[in-house]
Parts: sequence; structure tokens; C-alpha cells
Amino acid sequence: MASYSIAVIPGDGIGKEVVPESIRVVEAAARKYSFDVRWTHFDWSCETYRKTGRMMPEDGLRQLEKFDAILLGAVGHPDVPDHVSLWGLLIPIRRTFRQYVNLRPVRLLNGVTSPLRDYPPGQIDFCVVRENNEGEYSDVGGRLYSGTDDEMALQQTVFTRKGVMRILRYAFELAAKRNRHVTSATKSNGIIYTMPFWDECFRAVAKEYPQVKSDQYHIDILTAQFVRHPDWFDVVVGSNLFGDILSDLGPAVVGSIGIAPSANLNPERQFPSMFEPVHGSAPDIAGKGVANPIGQIWSAAMMLEHLGQSGAAKAIEAAFEAVLAARKELTPDLGGTATTKSLGAAITDALNQ
Ligand code: NAI
Ligand code: MG
Repeated sequence: MASYSIAVIPGDGIGKEVVPESIRVVEAAARKYSFDVRWTHFDWSCETYRKTGRMMPEDGLRQLEKFDAILLGAVGHPDVPDHVSLWGLLIPIRRTFRQYVNLRPVRLLNGVTSPLRDYPPGQIDFCVVRENNEGEYSDVGGRLYSGTDDEMALQQTVFTRKGVMRILRYAFELAAKRNRHVTSATKSNGIIYTMPFWDECFRAVAKEYPQVKSDQYHIDILTAQFVRHPDWFDVVVGSNLFGDILSDLGPAVVGSIGIAPSANLNPERQFPSMFEPVHGSAPDIAGKGVANPIGQIWSAAMMLEHLGQSGAAKAIEAAFEAVLAARKELTPDLGGTATTKSLGAAITDALNQ
């Protein structure tokens, strides 16, 4: 029997509420598809930071390295600056484990009303592929003359040929398996060194995939087209910053950020990959038990797909789609009165049927 060891980091806020529901659903899938999952829990979070001064122990990355995958909720607390929680946990994991692909599917599901009400379910179905290791989120820079009139802040964007080519190739490979269309997010009119370099790499990789259609938009109009014509897209690839913005906009277009999943992938499988919902710790609703667990559950399904349990992954997706379509057990973000637990239980029941 196949067996997987998973590191679980629920984190803060609603992360602690939605992660148990995703475990419950994966356990049901494991029984049905005859595989075994061993979970190891880590309490690394802003709470840990307030007690120990660190988001994770000094050897945290070494502890994670031996797992098959990492399932993460969300980190962030109003009392801890966001750059501390992000750079103390998430970014070191993404970088050390070379999780250079951040894959974020956007799909309009049956039973969910999009603000773009004229689209039928299924017609909006694309993926955002975000570069996850370099780009605008670099720690190259500095501040000078702090607290004076001459104060200045500089931050460098880092685009390496290796880093740009591998994310573009990932996007084209993915499109070749889907609807054969890649869109690049650029801004080579305003950002005149790094973005023309990105465009050159994009044209070079597009030539390697003549069967895949390619086009590019400047990020500003691309955000408008996400709202006006979300059905135009199949795979949208962007740098770290552009991909980050597009992957919050995409889920908003299809109804709720509470549904949106993501995978931080190390495609070479040299290191564990990490699976987490797009949303954060949502302090505004934390502790109320009403967070939508579907983003977390869908992320866990992406984890099973990555581990080779494709049947179980598809069954989990079918289960939450069926529950959504029935419109009986919806959390408040989807216009219902269900709780995190009752929606998680309904999805588990649907899976067991
Ligand atoms: P957020 O995603 O936590 O919340 C944005 C809005 O969406 C809130 O109104 C929230 O109630 C709602 N929402 C989010 N997830 C939901 C769910 N599952 N069900 C129902 N409603 C949901 O983003 P925000 O407010 O910008 O950040 C809050 C904290 O989370 C910050 O500390 C931030 O740094 C952190 N964060 C962490 C991320 C991560 O761990 N990957 C990602 C994004 C933010
Ligand atoms: Mg984001």
C-alpha cells in the first residue's frame, strides 16, 4: 500500500480551522483509494514567533526536508508585521525547496455565483502560473539616511535566465496538456530592463512549442481583461509580483477567495512541494468557525495529484463540486449559513458515497 508522510503547518487564524477539514477529506479519500497518509503536525506560526522570537526553529527546513509534501494553512497575525511572518516561514520554504512554480487554478464551479453572472459554470477555467523564487520579491536592496529628509529605499528586481526560462517552460508544458494557450503578463513599456528580458525569453520558449498559442498583455490591461473576458485564458504566466496580484484577482472573478487553491511546486521533485490555499489567516473571521474550507481541501487534492493519487484527487474535486451544486451546505462567503465543520463533513459524506 502506498504511504505518504506529510508535514502539516496549520499556522494562524482560520488556517487552524480549515486544515483539519482538509485532513478529514484526505483520510476519507485514502480509505477509499487504499493508500496511507502519516501526518506530522508543526505549530509554527505567529504565536510561536511571539513565544520564541522565530516563526520556525533554526533547523526547521531540515526537519521539513524529509517529508513527501507540506500542507500549509496560512500565517499572519495583526500583532506581527506581515513581512516577519512571510520571510520567517513561507519564503524560506519556497526558496530553499526550489518551489519555483506557484500554480493557481481558477474555475467557475457549479453552484457558485460569479460577479460575472452571465458565464455558465465551466466556461471560466484557467491557471495562473506564478514565478515563486525570484523577481520583484528579492532581498537585494537597502535603506539610506533613515529618519532624515534624505531618506531613501531601494529594492532590486532579480530576473535570472535560468529562473525565467524554467517558469515559462513549465507554463507551456502545462498548456500543452490543457487548452494549448499561454498568456504572458508583462510591463515592458514601463519597466525597461527586466521586462523586455522576460519578453525575449517568452518568445524563445514559445518557439519551442509551436502547437501552443501564445500572447502577451501589459499587466494593467490584463487585470481588466480578467474581469471583462475571463474565458479568453488557459494558462497565464507572470513574475512573482504580477502572478501574486493575478492569482487573487482570478478567484475573486469566480466567486470567493475561500475556494482558491495553490501549489508551490518543485517540479524536479528534489525537495518536498507545499500546498496551501490562496487566502490568508483572515483575522476578521478567525475563531468564528465560518471560514470556507474548500480552498484548503482543493489544495490537499492538488497534493494528492502531485503524489500520484490522481483518482483520489479527482474524487475530492467531484465531492466539493457536488456539495456546491446542491447549494445546501454553503459558508457565509458563498451566501449560506454553514460552518467550516458542517461543509467539511458534507464533502466527506459526498466522497464516501
Ligand atoms: P485574507 O485572505 O486573510 O482575507 C481577505 C478577506 O477574505 C477577508 O475578508 C477574509 O475574511 C476573507 N476570506 C479569506 N479566506 C476566507 C475563507 N476561507 N472563507 C471565507 N472568507 C475568507 O487576506 P488579508 O486580510 O490580506 O491577510 C490577513 C493575514 O493573512 C495577513 O497577516 C497576511 O499577511 C496573511 N496572509 C497570509 C498568506 C499565506 O499564509 N499564504 C496569504 C495572504 C495573506
Ligand atoms: Mg497573495
